Amino acid sequence: MKKAILSAKGVCKSFAHGGGQVHVLSQVDIDLYEGDFTVIMGASGSGKSTLMYALSGMDRATAGEIIYDGEDIVKMSEKRLASLRCSDFGFIFQQMHLVSNLTLFENVVVPGYLNKEKSAAEVKARADELLEQMSISHIKSHLPSQVSGGEQQRCAIARAVINEPRLLFADEPTGALNRKNTNDVLDLLTGLNRSGQSILMVTHDLRAALRAGRILYLEDGGIIGELTLPPYDLNEEKSRETQVNAWLSSMHW
Ligand SMILES: Nc1ncnc2c1ncn2[C@@H]1O[C@H](COP(=O)(O)OP(=O)(O)OP(=O)(O)O)[C@@H](O)[C@H]1O
Ligand SMILES: [Mg+2]
Repeated sequence: MKKAILSAKGVCKSFAHGGGQVHVLSQVDIDLYEGDFTVIMGASGSGKSTLMYALSGMDRATAGEIIYDGEDIVKMSEKRLASLRCSDFGFIFQQMHLVSNLTLFENVVVPGYLNKEKSAAEVKARADELLEQMSISHIKSHLPSQVSGGEQQRCAIARAVINEPRLLFADEPTGALNRKNTNDVLDLLTGLNRSGQSILMVTHDLRAALRAGRILYLEDGGIIGELTLPPYDLNEEKSRETQVNAWLSSMHW
């Protein structure tokens, strides 16, 4: 049986707006499992990012519980949340948010130093391995502004996994990339998942969704559908695409 890493029940999120409340998430239940590659899809504004931010403790749910390692993320102190986000979770966004005056190498090592579990030498060695894996070793001394968007995103992935997160959160990681860079980034995420990395990714992109073993569909602040798929195999991408497309049509995507 699969082991749940994170188990959320009855998650609600509202925002104060114009003197009233906007209810974005209403009673969302979701379990994320060890080693899974889960994708969340849904129309723009359906609450995908809001859900990801609540699950990862980047923002606090208004109600419900999100159990991670026996602790409720909804009730955690800010201090505990900050340490959890640094040690146990990794984050990738559409805009890479690299630090502009640090080199690619420095962008990757800094969160490793903050974690304090490894010596500086160990962090540097791991960063070099990751930069190699992401095929950006040759430009590791460049600043983000001196490399392409795809290279920046590969650096952001290396940074996100430097502390070996139990769970990697990705919000539209290919949203700003061209087709070639999208495929490279998706191949890297698929590779990480094959070596055991648990991933939760939000995407609008069908090609990105094909990489998942499970796709959840969010509408009006709730999960209305779930599709389970066998592990991704490039040779079977066409039939997978047909299956996912048909399912998405049934969700009125
Ligand atoms: N801080 C906020 N204050 C008020 N409303 C917000 C806030 N953040 C998000 N919302 C609203 O919550 C809804 C869901 O937003 P969210 O960003 O989660 O959608 P999404 O599914 O990620 O959309 P997209 O696909 O465009 O990224 C939107 O209607 C948005 O306007
Ligand atoms: Mg979003």
